[in-house]
Amino acid sequence: MAKYILAIDQGTTSSRAIIYDATLQQLACAQQELTLSYPHSGWVEQDATELWQSVVSCIRKVLYKAGISASDLAGIGITNQRETTLVWHKTTGKALYPAIVWQDRRTAAQCQQLKDAGLEPLLQQKTGLLADPYFSASKLSWILQHVPNARQQAERGELCFGTVDCYLLWQLSGGKVHATDASNASRTLLFNIHRQCWDDELLKMFNIPAAILPTVQDNAASFAVTAVDVLAAEVPILAMIGDQQAALLGQACTETGMSKSTYGTGCFTVVNTGPTVLSSQHKLLSTVAWRLNGSTTYALEGSIFMAGATVQWLRDQLGIISTAADSETLAQGVSYQQTELLIPAFTGLGAPYWQPEVKAALFGMGRDSGKSEIAAAALRSVAYQSCDLLQAIQQDGLTVQQLRVDGGMTANRWFLQALADLTQKQVLRCQTTDATAMGAAFLVALHLGIYPDVSAMQTVWRSDYQISPVLAKADADKLHQRWQHLVSSLLSIKL
Ligand code: G3P
Repeated sequence: MAKYILAIDQGTTSSRAIIYDATLQQLACAQQELTLSYPHSGWVEQDATELWQSVVSCIRKVLYKAGISASDLAGIGITNQRETTLVWHKTTGKALYPAIVWQDRRTAAQCQQLKDAGLEPLLQQKTGLLADPYFSASKLSWILQHVPNARQQAERGELCFGTVDCYLLWQLSGGKVHATDASNASRTLLFNIHRQCWDDELLKMFNIPAAILPTVQDNAASFAVTAVDVLAAEVPILAMIGDQQAALLGQACTETGMSKSTYGTGCFTVVNTGPTVLSSQHKLLSTVAWRLNGSTTYALEGSIFMAGATVQWLRDQLGIISTAADSETLAQGVSYQQTELLIPAFTGLGAPYWQPEVKAALFGMGRDSGKSEIAAAALRSVAYQSCDLLQAIQQDGLTVQQLRVDGGMTANRWFLQALADLTQKQVLRCQTTDATAMGAAFLVALHLGIYPDVSAMQTVWRSDYQISPVLAKADADKLHQRWQHLVSSLLSIKL
């Protein structure tokens, strides 16, 4: 009998495939890096075929590593970078245009027009989101407007729109199923999170024909079976969930008020708000955490765009480190008295500022500022942004007691100490760096009846490292105020 679970985690910079057994023990993992391209300032794209091929190759590699075949799989769960937008032909499965990545800012002017027209409160009320290029709607609208014939084909029902989950489902099912899940739909700016359906008024606002949209399913459902020419067996796809919501589940934040922060490409702090949509007064997002058996759990989210990507910038653009781990070595010994401060607005600023056009800046350089100070400033910039998010969450009336953290950056203990110090919270690292994939695998297990309900995730979750603040609260507050002062100064500069 088939007994293994495959989780596909398709992220911004890499695709991963992980095999779990029925007790959610990880057996094997395969990963492949992806190319991002930046054709113009503020644009971020990915080749759709490369994205799909990377997933196929990870699946083949991981099956080989685990020594099992596709027919040994009881089910597949997909988790993914959210908002990234694809449009493809129904008959050929070929994408019309590269995937427009969530970080892409090309539609900033269109979003500003919506704000100027006073439409942001309506968007926020219906979708829980804001008028920002981060979300899929303006990206989809851009493709329909700029790719020749796209709008006509969309109106004739010849095209499919989808976020990455939906695109992978289409490809895995051999072009048979066009569906997404409620968590991914809630990131498009077209989905009414209260009524749990596509919203006609929003489709009109973004000029999107309804025929292009996928159906929206619960997060654990019988989505499709894999086509035999893709995987050599008909394996059921039983779960799909956006990566940050998957990490919320993988971190066992199944009770109202529990939260996690994932430090991947960006950082996303998500708080479970239970069956209630908490409408933020401080520019956080309300979003679907998961929908199971038709019942929705909501979350409040603070999204920052540059976390691990800031470390990549040190490596790829500045060339001052050769691996992410070098940033930890370099930053050792740089005290909080350092004057250098990096505001990593390389793709604008997300929560709580939402300034798509602002550019990054490095302040406070002296003649003696060098690699170490810049590395420390880069790592601390991620902690300062976390302070901004926690402050907004608190102002919205929620209290985060402890920080449950995961993601690639949490391998860096110097960063985790800075995070504990500056946020003044105890930091608990998840035992698995793959909390995201674990969340998707858990949903498959739930659907298979291995676990009775989501709270069972509590029995699976473990922390392998905890750290408490050693910096005095007064000093942490002063440092955060300086950060906020410099962010305000940067926002007032027009380049
Ligand atoms: O909203 C974007 C987010 O889903 C991307 O996640 O893991 O690729 O940084 P990640």
